[in-house]
Amino acid sequence: MHDPYDSNCNPSTGLSFQQVMAVSPSRRRLLGGGIVAAAAALTGAAPGLRLARAAVSSPLLGFEPVPVASDDVVHVPRGYVAEVIYAWGDPVSDGPTFAQDASNSAADQELQAGMHHDGMHFFAMPAQPGERQRGLLAVNHEYADDGLLHPDGMRTWTPDKVRKSQAAHGVSVVELRQRADGGWEVVRPSRYGRRITASTPMSIAGPATGHPWMRTAADSAGTRVLGTFNNCANGFTPWGTYLTCEENFYAYFAHGGDVPVAQRRYGITAKGHGYRWHEHDERFDAQRHPHEPNRFGWVVEIDPFDPASVPVKRTALGRFCHEGAAHALARDGRVVVYMGDDARGEYIYKFVSARPFDPAGAAANRDLLDEGTLYVARFGAGGTGQWLALRHGDNGLTADHGFPGQAEVLIHARQAADRVGATMMDRPEWMAVHPRSGEVYCSLTNNTKRGGATVNAADGSTPAGSSSPPVDAANPRADNAFGHIIRWREEGGDAAAESFEWDVFILCGDPAHPDAAKRGTVNGDAFGSPDGLWVDADGRLWIETDISPTSLYKGDYAALGNNAMLCADTVSGEVRRFLTGPRGCEIAGVIQATDRRTLFVNIQHPGETPGERSNPDAPSSISAWPGGGRPRSATLAIRRLDGGVIGA
Ligand code: FEO
Ligand code: CA
Ligand code: CA
Ligand code: CA
Repeated sequence: MHDPYDSNCNPSTGLSFQQVMAVSPSRRRLLGGGIVAAAAALTGAAPGLRLARAAVSSPLLGFEPVPVASDDVVHVPRGYVAEVIYAWGDPVSDGPTFAQDASNSAADQELQAGMHHDGMHFFAMPAQPGERQRGLLAVNHEYADDGLLHPDGMRTWTPDKVRKSQAAHGVSVVELRQRADGGWEVVRPSRYGRRITASTPMSIAGPATGHPWMRTAADSAGTRVLGTFNNCANGFTPWGTYLTCEENFYAYFAHGGDVPVAQRRYGITAKGHGYRWHEHDERFDAQRHPHEPNRFGWVVEIDPFDPASVPVKRTALGRFCHEGAAHALARDGRVVVYMGDDARGEYIYKFVSARPFDPAGAAANRDLLDEGTLYVARFGAGGTGQWLALRHGDNGLTADHGFPGQAEVLIHARQAADRVGATMMDRPEWMAVHPRSGEVYCSLTNNTKRGGATVNAADGSTPAGSSSPPVDAANPRADNAFGHIIRWREEGGDAAAESFEWDVFILCGDPAHPDAAKRGTVNGDAFGSPDGLWVDADGRLWIETDISPTSLYKGDYAALGNNAMLCADTVSGEVRRFLTGPRGCEIAGVIQATDRRTLFVNIQHPGETPGERSNPDAPSSISAWPGGGRPRSATLAIRRLDGGVIGA
């Protein structure tokens, strides 16, 4: 999501800078390797520092880059093809088909692809005779454009429209097959085809289950909740389940009155953010139902192979505006989940399970994510960092400070992270774990408001209520319009370690920009506002951009055109543009099929307006992708015409 949700609710006093400076520089170990990593040892983190890069072209990047584009089509490299396989309104099984005039009912929408495709994962299944591959694709539907969703947009507002809007959110599970001719299609009918929406019953598990703050009029036990929404990025588990992450949940609630501090810290406002669900569904009135918002902002686990399974909110992973959930296995087999909280000045977290992963399968790991330790990151100036435990009783997380137990620590994870002095980051989006080195990459999408606060020379604090911490080593640009990608390697190569070494992989920017600070450290094609990240088996880092519609085609972004997908060699640092999207879209979600010869990518909200809600009288005024008429978010299957490995 973008600027209307580019919230900052973090009133912390910018301690991160002082804490960063207090950390003594220690031994550096090269990240990634070779000349580039040495050059990337940003200690002073001078804005615009250009790293020495290997001059030779990367052997990993075997495709011709596509140029910047601003037309209303998808471009992929010569020799590749991109096909739309699953667009908003397509049935998940053999249900109702999409109506271009938006006349589908709420009941139809409950059986069709939602809007605004975001994170996704492909779960392989055995192929059947006559086909190449088969599997389940789980896809997030992050948010909805009510201007496109209803024939007259929001001009009238009814319970049915709220129901349809809620049905356009959530997650799809669809069964895919690749035909002998290489093309992909949704299997219809399919016993797996399923929609999970903002109304689907789900359960609550982990330490916050049943806590008084989780209880509502409709759920006096605090164990059951309806739905998931604003599902941004995702993860998956080694036991074959899908993790969907609740990001800007606050936007769906309206309080109406004087919003309590704890709700403000999560972005809830008196008026809400225009979804108007509270007008016809009173649980979204945060004054009447003050605990309902506590039941959102979690990571939700879904078993895509069991269509009757009840999704589970895993409270041990903490409550914040979750972007994604990328896992690694610790040396002893415990599961580590890396997670970002995407708002200005928020934090990077990881969860370490108490018990190791059991290879016996999903049933053996059913409760694995319910017990463990949640940590938050502090990035030191010397290229080292610490994981600070958010554990009741430690690091000041005591009853005196508003944390009588672990449930309070998790429900108020942001406040707990404030308390322990984590580093306020430039909007952490996706994380990606390099499958060989174990390095973790995190996109910090942008933040143009850092450094506005004046530091009090006497005590090092910034003014109370400041939303603008000073620049620091890990967030080195005050005007970080283009964002950056940071990476770290855990101490001893163990994902469960409590310390790490880090560097800035790329300060994003435009190498042709007249202002040296805006060029960043890009070795290759210009890009900005990195969001989706994924490292493939060969070590290619795929980067998806989300320049918001308020910035697209303007100012510093004028030369970058439509949002794009790039591919980087994590060793040489070279970056090459692989795909450009249609007008007004962001690129979101990335995963390969098992044979690495198909790349699934989502085009989210083609034609989005700066206000994020289309004019129902001119729904195609910015984009009519992919098929003319109303623009539709959609999943692409991208292949090489010669059948080769993607990117090679
Ligand atoms: Fe939904 Fe942070 O992107
Ligand atoms: Ca978006
Ligand atoms: Ca984004
Ligand atoms: Ca995102």
